[in-house]
This record gives sequence, C-alpha cells and structure tokens, in this order.
Amino acid sequence: MTPQPRTRTQLPKRTVSIIGTGSYLPERVLTNAELEKMVETSDDWITSRTGIRERRIAAEGEFTSDLAAKAAQSAIENAGITAEEIDLIIIATITPDHFMPSTACIVQTKIGAKRAVCFDISAACSGFLYAVEIAQQFITSHTYNTILVVGADKLSSIVNWKDRNTCVLFGDGAGAAILRHRAHGHGVIATRMGSNGQLAELLQVPGGGCACPITAENAGERLNTIRMEGRETFKHAVTNMVESARQVLDDAGLTPADLACVIPHQANLRIISAVAERLEVPLERIMVNLDRFGNTSAAAVAIALDEANRTGRMKVGDYVLLVVFGGGMTWASSVIQW
Ligand code: UT7
Repeated sequence: MTPQPRTRTQLPKRTVSIIGTGSYLPERVLTNAELEKMVETSDDWITSRTGIRERRIAAEGEFTSDLAAKAAQSAIENAGITAEEIDLIIIATITPDHFMPSTACIVQTKIGAKRAVCFDISAACSGFLYAVEIAQQFITSHTYNTILVVGADKLSSIVNWKDRNTCVLFGDGAGAAILRHRAHGHGVIATRMGSNGQLAELLQVPGGGCACPITAENAGERLNTIRMEGRETFKHAVTNMVESARQVLDDAGLTPADLACVIPHQANLRIISAVAERLEVPLERIMVNLDRFGNTSAAAVAIALDEANRTGRMKVGDYVLLVVFGGGMTWASSVIQW
C-alpha cells in the first residue's frame, strides 16, 4: 500500500520553550518628585498606594517599534540565534507606531528578520501572554519553528499628564522572548486566558479610533488618553488573576508550593501582594520591578521575565507562573517549566 503523507494534525504535539529573553527601557527616568511638580500628588501617596518610585519615558523621536526592536535584539542575542531564523513576529501593543502598517512589520525591518510573517495583537496589559499562547499554537501545530514575541508600549504617548489618577502609574518599555520547540526540553505547560468585554469602560482610551475620531471640536477633551476607574479595576484584577492562576496550576497538576517564581503584571504592589496572599506564595518568590518601571502595559511581564532570567531567579527545571490582567478586560496565566 502506498504510504499516505502525514498531515500536520497527525504530527506529535511539541513542547514550546522560551529559549531567550530580552528587554529595553528608555534612558529618561521620571521620578515621583518630578510628578509632584506636574500634578497635585506626593511621593508618599504614589509609593504607599502603588509601590512605584520612578518610571522610564521614551524620547520624543523614540517609538514603540524602537523599544520593541531593541528588546528583540537583546532576546535574539540571549537565545543565540540570528534574526533570519525567525519565522513569525507577534507584537502585543496598545500604542502602535501607526494604525497601519503593523508595528511588527516595522520591527521586522529594524532587526532584519527578512523571512518572518508579522502581525500585532491588542490585549492591553495581557498582550504578552496572549501572544505567547498564539505562538505556542503555531509551534505545536508545526506551522512555525522560531517565533519572536514582544510586549512593547509607549504609554507616555497616551497618558493625560494633567490627570493625577493615571499619569503617576505608567511608563514606557519593551520585553521580548524567542520561542522554539526544544526536543525533550522544558517549556510552556499550560495557559489560561480570559476576557470580559462588559467591563470595557473601566479602563479605556475612548477616542482616536473610528468610533470617536479626534476632531478640532473635541481635541481639548483629550479623548485619546487613558481613562481608568482605579478601584473597580483593582478588584477585578485581584479576582481574575487569582482565579486564572488557580485554574492554570490545576491544569498543570501543580500547587502554589511547587512554584519557584511568580512573575505578575506590574500595575500595583498592593494588587501583587493581594494575589500572593490569596495564592499563599511568599513575597520573596514574587518578581517585582514596578518600583523602577511603573506599569508598562504589555511590556511589564516580559521585562520582569527577562530580569528574572538574567538575575538567575529561575533555575533549569523550576516551575514559574506568569499572571497578567489588563484593559478589555483581559487576563491570562501561564505555567512554564524553565
Ligand atoms: O494595568 C491594568 C490594570 N490596572 C490596574 O490594575 C490598576 C488598578 N487600580 C489601582 O492600582 C488603584 O486603584 C490606583 C493606584 C489607581 C488608585 O489607588 P486607590 O487606593 O484605589 O485610590 P482611589 O482611586 O480610591 O483614590 C483615593 C483618593 C482619592 O481622593 P478622595 O476622593 O478620597 O479625596 C483620589 O482623588 O486618592 C486620590 N488620588 C490621588 N492623590 C494623590 C488619586 N490619585 C492620586 C494621586 N496623588 N496621584
């Protein structure tokens, strides 16, 4: 009998490993003391209510694609590959350089990943983990081998610098990871994602899209900047991060006690502490860098992952939980064996 060709669906599932990480933070540091001069706030309020002490702000001519390209280059070096080996680039961002082309296409040119297919995704602060899960699907289905995933945002471009409720929270940056199948290697064990569009208005940029274009008449209302119901967002963040973390640990057959490291979204130290307490994970096992970088949206968990990698917080074989929450509302959790 003539052997039938094997279709992709018949091929064995593959483990997806993070083989390299990278990040980039702009040079300019904006401290709480400087914000005291811009809006009615205090270092004491910002530090005690959020844990943030300073954040990075991109230069005027430095765009999301520049931050993403630098993080990508550092991940490519860390993985020991060349840009030509990348099959797919996924950029998670809510601050693309343009509506069109995608920021991923711009990054492709900046890093010289000539063979790559490129697209952006929009899931706010959850974007990096959403993108990792998309990459995982492409690799396990044998469609692509080597994928660059980047979380990058220049939030300073959509912050209302006169609104003390939001302007003290955010910063600019990018984090990146190279994903690839590694035979008999460790990798992503399980991922859970969730969304609830009914809560969309709690955290949004109302203007600038086709539903509410910026016109000469509404320009003064700053509709193209971030609006947030902080307290409500806080509650949903804690509830959904804890629930999705429990679900993904259950999927992986693990308990919080098995985790060597937890890398959460970096929005507020009080959110991180509440999540840690409910999961019963001691704070020393939680990666925190929001004191230095603030909330960098899609970049935050990716920057923290890179820092955890480079500072030896994760040893080969360790179980690591990544957990995020953001506008949409959206959330996700992944368990990785490092
Ligand atoms: O990344 C996506 C997910 N984002 C989040 O998860 C963020 C979730 N929310 C939060 O982190 C917190 O809700 C905030 C940090 C945004 C706010 O903290 P809060 O403890 O919830 O404060 P609040 O909004 O309830 O405001 C308390 C008071 C208010 O004054 P009154 O009404 O009590 O007189 C605010 O006007 O604090 C005031 N306030 C400030 N005061 C000084 C708000 N912002 C400031 C500020 N400086 N920057």
